[in-house]
Amino acid sequence: MKVVIIGAQWGDEGKGKIVDYLANEAQVIVRFSGGANAGHTIVIGGEEYALHLIPSGVFYPDKMVILGAGMVIDPVALFSEIRMLEDRGIDTRGRIFISDRAHIVLPRYIQIDKERDAARKRPIGTTGRGIGITYSMKSDRDGIRIADLAWKEKMDGLEKADREFLAPYIDRLLAMSIDLSSYLVHHRNSQVLFEGAQGTLLDLDLGTYPYVSSGMSCAAGAAIGGCVGPRAIDKVLGVFKAYSTRVGNGPLPSEFDPDSEDELCRFVRDTGREYGVTTGRPRRCGYLDLVSLRYACLTNSIDGLVMTHLDVYDTFEEIKACTAYRIGDKIVENFPASIGCLNSAKPVLRSFPGWKKTLAGALTYEELPVAAMEYIEFIERFCETPIDIVSVGYDRKATIIRKSPWTK
Ligand code: GDP
Ligand code: IMO
Ligand code: MG
Repeated sequence: MKVVIIGAQWGDEGKGKIVDYLANEAQVIVRFSGGANAGHTIVIGGEEYALHLIPSGVFYPDKMVILGAGMVIDPVALFSEIRMLEDRGIDTRGRIFISDRAHIVLPRYIQIDKERDAARKRPIGTTGRGIGITYSMKSDRDGIRIADLAWKEKMDGLEKADREFLAPYIDRLLAMSIDLSSYLVHHRNSQVLFEGAQGTLLDLDLGTYPYVSSGMSCAAGAAIGGCVGPRAIDKVLGVFKAYSTRVGNGPLPSEFDPDSEDELCRFVRDTGREYGVTTGRPRRCGYLDLVSLRYACLTNSIDGLVMTHLDVYDTFEEIKACTAYRIGDKIVENFPASIGCLNSAKPVLRSFPGWKKTLAGALTYEELPVAAMEYIEFIERFCETPIDIVSVGYDRKATIIRKSPWTK
């Protein structure tokens, strides 16, 4: 069975935690998009790890992890991540593979990314990892793929600085390279997880363009970046937080008001540890945006939602979520494409009673307080999508499974 896990918001929903948890029952984990702009945090028994390129299944010694064709790979970042894992006692030998169709990030792309974003009239606030430039080179047909490292004519034709940069990595990258479609045919009877990066609203096509990343973070991207057809995918899970966050610029319609809700923002940011894993930037925070969550369910055909960070609300008297936007004198219930509309949108908020109890230690849905269940069940009705998994803490163990991801 092949299960896709994507972010249903603006990234950082807790995909890493969930993929790590579910990888226990998978044999192969494929990251299908993005690059070292991602930061996926995994906490296992008090040990915290931040992954940028390597799939979140790597902590189980018997799992195969693959960097898919839709990824853009910075060799410096990749080998420093492998070293970090090895230094911390994770044996990765013979378990990390790269699709021969994945593209390579060069140092000069990183430089151009930083300079170009700084020079923009309205900067996107990129992570400065060369992501957009590498994907542009790819669509311009000037990119360098892993397979190209063995293509002498192409390598001989590169600029001297690029050739010199790549030289020490060629053998190591080629040794990890695989034909992903054939690999997955051999594993046709395995449980495969496709791990997304970023989130639906940062997807190049579906997101809040131009304030997006440049890869495919939507569920369809799992097919392309994972080298399988769309019909090979059995199930799509969309991860979302019980509130909203965003790093970088662009619309966040349900953002807490910096004048009147600064304290609320600070509480959520500190309790949810809302600081970027890749850049350390504080994340912007806001109410759960159900308008965009329903949009994510529709555009990704999400079968089941995974709700994370519910515990952040443990002490709240009242919880609010955005159920529509007020734009001018109109109430808008669908997620608009126009950035102008999104920038002027004011959230229409619905209030829910808090539970005022710690969720820590809850292992089953029935152990959750009634008020938490009511919040969950309202979201399910609003999005017309079940919430199959609830996460109540950052540790691997703080996870409640309502429906197995391996059941259709
Ligand atoms: P990702 O990019 O989607 O993998 O998410 P990040 O790792 O960037 O950010 C999620 C943050 O929330 C990390 O610090 C996680 O350890 C943490 N986290 C994940 N799930 C939960 C949860 O249910 N509750 C709390 N309090 N923290 C969580
Ligand atoms: P994970 O996988 C949150 C944001 C950046 C910026 C925009 C474009 O951890 O959820 P880029 O460097 O990709 O060109 O930046 O996208 N961004 C993310 N925000 N989580 C991520 O990944 C992100 N990856 C990119 O902050 O606004
Ligand atoms: Mg992240």
